[in-house]
Amino acid sequence: AHLQPQMEESSILRRADCRAKGGSPGFKVAILGAAGGIGQPLAMLMKMNPLVSVLHLYDVVNSPGVTADLSHMDTGAVVRGFLGQPQLESALTGMDLVIIPAGVPRKPGMTRDDLFNINAGIVKTLCEGVAKCCPNAIVNLISNPVNSTVPIAAEVFKKAGTYDPKRLLGVTTLDVVRANTFVAEVLGLDPREVNVPVVGGHSGVTILPLLSQVKPPSSFTPDETEYLTNRIQNGGTEVVEAKAGAGSATLSMAYAAVKFADACLRGLRGDAGVVECAFVASEVTELPFFATKVRLGRTGAEEVYQLGPLNEYERVGLEKAKEELAGSIQKGIAFIKK
Ligand code: NAD
Ligand code: LMR
Repeated sequence: AHLQPQMEESSILRRADCRAKGGSPGFKVAILGAAGGIGQPLAMLMKMNPLVSVLHLYDVVNSPGVTADLSHMDTGAVVRGFLGQPQLESALTGMDLVIIPAGVPRKPGMTRDDLFNINAGIVKTLCEGVAKCCPNAIVNLISNPVNSTVPIAAEVFKKAGTYDPKRLLGVTTLDVVRANTFVAEVLGLDPREVNVPVVGGHSGVTILPLLSQVKPPSSFTPDETEYLTNRIQNGGTEVVEAKAGAGSATLSMAYAAVKFADACLRGLRGDAGVVECAFVASEVTELPFFATKVRLGRTGAEEVYQLGPLNEYERVGLEKAKEELAGSIQKGIAFIKK
């Protein structure tokens, strides 16, 4: 009855490993950047997700502490921590889904593109690890600028010969979450009843809410349309300014990331009719990547939906969005090709 503490610990870990490997259904998920502002609440919410059997937490700092902390939660997922580049491959091996919120966030006065110089290299290294260790995993890319980091990831995977456009998804769910919230406020509805498609990309004018397609069907005055479009496009900046140098959205982003990751896992499980907006390889416009609604299935983004009917305001917005997106996509591709 009185086991040595060490023996006790190793036997408990062995049992947890057996549970993770064996019977318990669920997916293996890695979070890269797990000790960060997004990473920590995201890791906590994924530890609470019943679809997750194994949760790998990788960061270049502090991942052991976050792992120890979360491992005490009495939920099903087995949590393991990985620290620093030498442990990246172990963190990634065998994963079904890799969520990447690694990288620096904005400070007031910066654009997302100002993060390119640091985050492009981080995303490149992490995606090289994915290509080597879990080439069939679904990747949810959160690191900014998403409009460029997704093309970077695609080029890394192409170089490695592992690219499957269906498995690479830029996370734009926070734009939809914000749009649902702000539109619900204007309409006087519960945000859970509202669904706003947001297309284009994830930065400034590339964030294009389609208010003409809001569910439940609603109409907006020109002033409301202008107010809502601006607020949704500048939601990130609103948080950056309120945090006044302490970073950007982390808690709402973790919520949005889990909403999206959970949809990906339900798709992997084979659930029907799982539809979310995401920034993916696309033939909807002349650009190689674009955010629209996609249907998530066993192999990732199995169907990329067309834009549907746009009103005049949205058609003008679409042209502006495409112009900026073209440059950001090209910048990402050139970073790897150079
Ligand atoms: P943060 O600085 O709080 O956390 C980032 C974490 O990444 C840190 O723990 C850091 O150690 C880690 N990291 C740095 N280099 C790494 C590497 N090479 N490998 C693994 N981990 C590494 O920042 P945050 O607030 O969590 O934001 C992270 C990123 O997410 C930023 O680029 C931010 O702009 C972006 N973001 C995107 C969205 C979106 O909607 N897609 C929303 C919010 C933030
Ligand atoms: C957001 O939309 O909150 C993120 O992209 C972070 C940022 O820099 O605004």
